[in-house]
Amino acid sequence: MSDLRLGVCYYPEQWPESMWQADARRMREMGIEQVRIAEFAWSRMEPSPGQYDWGWLDRAVETLAGAGLKIVMCTPTATPPKWLIDAHPQILAVGADGRTRAFGSRRHYDFSSPEYFEAAGEISRRVAERYGQHPAVSAWQIDNEFGCHLTVLSYSQHAVQRFRQWLAKRYGTVKALNEAWGTVFWSMEYRTFDEIDAPIGTVTEAHPAHRLDYRRFASDEVVRFGRMQVDIIRERSPGRAVVHNFMQLFSEFDHYALAAHLDAATWDSYPLGGLEEAWFDAETKARWLRTGHPDYASFNHDLYRGMSRQPFWVMEQQPGPVNWAPWNPAPLPGMVRTWSWEAFAHGAGTVSYFRWRQAPFAQEQMHAGLNTPDDQIDLGGHEARQVADEIALLPATLAQPRGTVALVFDYASKWLFDIHPQGADFNYMRFAFEYYSALRSVGLDVDIVPQDAPLDGYRLIVVPSLAVVSEAFASRLAQSDAQFVFGPRSGSKTESLSIPSNLPPGALAASMPLRVWRVESMRPNATLDVNYHGKPGTARHWREFVDLPADASVLSTYPDGGAAMIRHRNLLYLASLFDEATTRAVMHDAARAAGLAVEQLDDGVRLARRAGLTFVFNYGESSYAVPPDATLVFGDGQVGPQQVSVFRPAASRVELNQDAASVAAS
Ligand code: GAL
Repeated sequence: MSDLRLGVCYYPEQWPESMWQADARRMREMGIEQVRIAEFAWSRMEPSPGQYDWGWLDRAVETLAGAGLKIVMCTPTATPPKWLIDAHPQILAVGADGRTRAFGSRRHYDFSSPEYFEAAGEISRRVAERYGQHPAVSAWQIDNEFGCHLTVLSYSQHAVQRFRQWLAKRYGTVKALNEAWGTVFWSMEYRTFDEIDAPIGTVTEAHPAHRLDYRRFASDEVVRFGRMQVDIIRERSPGRAVVHNFMQLFSEFDHYALAAHLDAATWDSYPLGGLEEAWFDAETKARWLRTGHPDYASFNHDLYRGMSRQPFWVMEQQPGPVNWAPWNPAPLPGMVRTWSWEAFAHGAGTVSYFRWRQAPFAQEQMHAGLNTPDDQIDLGGHEARQVADEIALLPATLAQPRGTVALVFDYASKWLFDIHPQGADFNYMRFAFEYYSALRSVGLDVDIVPQDAPLDGYRLIVVPSLAVVSEAFASRLAQSDAQFVFGPRSGSKTESLSIPSNLPPGALAASMPLRVWRVESMRPNATLDVNYHGKPGTARHWREFVDLPADASVLSTYPDGGAAMIRHRNLLYLASLFDEATTRAVMHDAARAAGLAVEQLDDGVRLARRAGLTFVFNYGESSYAVPPDATLVFGDGQVGPQQVSVFRPAASRVELNQDAASVAAS
């Protein structure tokens, strides 16, 4: 038995019972070992208040277990049923426009509603009591995609009341709050916590510190709600992993804080839908239309691996076209396999496809499954089968990957810069991704970590930006001899979203004695020419005006002579955001300075190392030659478009098992 396993998401309540047995058998035939069920089934578990119907779910569990499948049971709290909403209309969340959200889709609840906290706890207890000890139940998923459809923030009366309590706890006195926020500006001073409302509906922008604290509060509410379910399940289902399925590049709450309570972080991977919905320009979207961007899924893998106690999973893997993006192209043949292997290469324990069969009804009827609605195996299903066969060619146990570079990713920085973008396209997520992508394009393995993670062992630490640099981070940095790269706006704010008294980079100035005395943002078509080691490039979006110490070296300047890239000892500070080629050259040189081996890869080719194996992925159109003295485990020596190969580099050559050798020879 391998450490790597395939799973699938299945909805027995959506199909006639007469189909279940054949479905279960065919899952096994496809090489699937695990099935996730019941996350949207509340109206069938409890058709009316207090009247539970477990018969159908008992039979579904027995059928799946009988076929030898492991079951990931879910709490159904993403979809409170109609009778519950009618009994307690205050469960419904309230949008920033002040309007109450309606029943009729999903995720309509307010994290701060005491009635919902109670009801969600009760149904979680019931499911956990019913199935917690079942031998086939191997793991639990709580709820489904916290925050999906932008549902973290709610502005209900319940939320506002809890926000006031949260503020009182954080500040102690309202005087302290007034001082921290700076409410004297525009006569916004409060006399009691009860005077403070949600930061919406104001004539022009609400106070930024007020908005930031509302986001911190809302994030804490998600964690509190998730934790309640985790505790209920742990007590009733010992020995099973409790997980949640996070979303791709989603930052509306602090995922590190919730993951700390879970056994494993899992996430839902939709590379084509994600590309369509993200910030990429039209040319980039067209280029990677049917493959996804080569760094999109892996950014998420590396992020969730870092916060997961056990190996992370992909809970939902895109199997074909989805239905929810503005355009929904079909993946090129080979991409479902490529995405699956990429997840395993980056450390996933499980890759689970969404969904077993395309549903011919309701909201997602245009979303592919592993099977078509008339029950024929779809292209994704055939590729899943191939992955299952290939898993058998790898050693049964694979150690977790470990990156040589740490990239510090910080949810609060995203919130701060969303509140104070200063330029319409200043998007922290995008810039973090661009730095990551540059590192990956020179063949580096990256760990994405929070600012309080141990940084020992990394030779290169890249900080796309860290809005608030804590004294603790600054002092660890001062003691480190690793190479650091900091992006603009690092140390530019205090905890309460003010400018630090010494000006940016705030606490970072202890190691990087700069003074950023002015900034400007620039329209997309207004860029500044720069030059980096003789190569022309552009500074985009953002420019800082910097005073620097005499012993700093300037690696690149703006046309007016101002410093655009500054090196001081082991720190490099980037006072702008640069074009792709320049960013790549900067990361390449930083890695060299750190003593790391780099390799210039063709666009679209990516490498990942795990357990002494190198995985090659080709999202592009060229081909990659596996080193001739390497030992192929599977795939070809010339890795063509949409192909995957796995090899063992010569230095650590070991005897392959028979199967692997015969595949390599074929
Ligand atoms: C996910 C969600 C699933 C399904 C899927 C469709 O966001 O968890 O329930 O809606 O998207 O791609």
